[in-house]
Amino acid sequence: MATVKCIGILTSGGDAPGMNAAVRAVTRAAIYKGLTVKGIYRGYRGLVYDEIEEFKSQNVSNIIQLGGTILKTARCAEFMTPEGRKTAYDTMQKHGIDALVIIGGDGSLTGARIFAQEFDVPCIGLPGTIDNDLYGTDTTIGYDTALNTILDAVDKIRDTATSHDRLFFVEVMGRDAGFLALNGAIASGAEAAIIPEFSTEVDQLEEFIKNGFRKSKNSSIVIVAESELTGGAMHYAERVKKEYPQYDVRVTILGHLQRGGSPTAHDRILASRLGAAAIDAIMEDQRNVMMGIVHDEIVYVPFSKAIKNDKPIKRELVNVLRELSI
Ligand code: F6P
Repeated sequence: MATVKCIGILTSGGDAPGMNAAVRAVTRAAIYKGLTVKGIYRGYRGLVYDEIEEFKSQNVSNIIQLGGTILKTARCAEFMTPEGRKTAYDTMQKHGIDALVIIGGDGSLTGARIFAQEFDVPCIGLPGTIDNDLYGTDTTIGYDTALNTILDAVDKIRDTATSHDRLFFVEVMGRDAGFLALNGAIASGAEAAIIPEFSTEVDQLEEFIKNGFRKSKNSSIVIVAESELTGGAMHYAERVKKEYPQYDVRVTILGHLQRGGSPTAHDRILASRLGAAAIDAIMEDQRNVMMGIVHDEIVYVPFSKAIKNDKPIKRELVNVLRELSI
């Protein structure tokens, strides 16, 4: 029998489409199971500065379709200090919060792990990031929507690239993970993807040129993952301008538009399932795990695993892109 009576919920780090669907699911599932819910604003900041209100079912009405997060989000420097975390713990006590549900990415779950260890607070994480870089789950909340946003943009860029016979380098987000770039390239029919996972192995630009990128086409699109390891789209454009001046090169950096927008059906369903499962986990006395999905089944991934391990990218995807972009 769980001893938890009141949960706090927060969204932290970079926002991701579907976070609101997750907030709704956690809130409603908790109320359904007889728990009290407190909404914590601006991530861990709301715990440090006491920005908390009770959430009833109506607080999460009409939000499943909204991008962003109604709870707001932040990257909180104070929570990274022991003093800040002590203040956060005291705020939790004051509001009678017995457990936390944290929706966020790598950094947010790292914070949860430290907090849980220091104060013995049950913490349950939901993977909320467009980057899809959390180990132990096939996908993360927001990734599918961001991928679809990339497709919309690249489809449009292709129109102008084709009209002008140009080579476009399109930079996408992902921090140090290439999931958005590689799958975005496959789905948009791009000619190549440059991703951090392979940046030390091969010169991906050389490979792309060597494979004869204009064998049967007059225009080309290369998706580049933002990362210090790749150097970004600008870096490759400069290189091509210098080494292959015959090509007419342009750069588009998609930036934060990838983080916004109404979540896809996939992200809404994922967020709803993981949110409801987070409350089941709390009722089962689980703690310090991230909820994930593997082969369409809900799994519990210890924070230590989800954060520490690099999520591998399938080489098969690289081969598919190479074979289909001839
Ligand atoms: O983690 C999500 C993400 O959008 C990354 O892809 C990107 O590197 C980073 O956040 C951007 O952060 P900020 O919004 O703070 O500029």
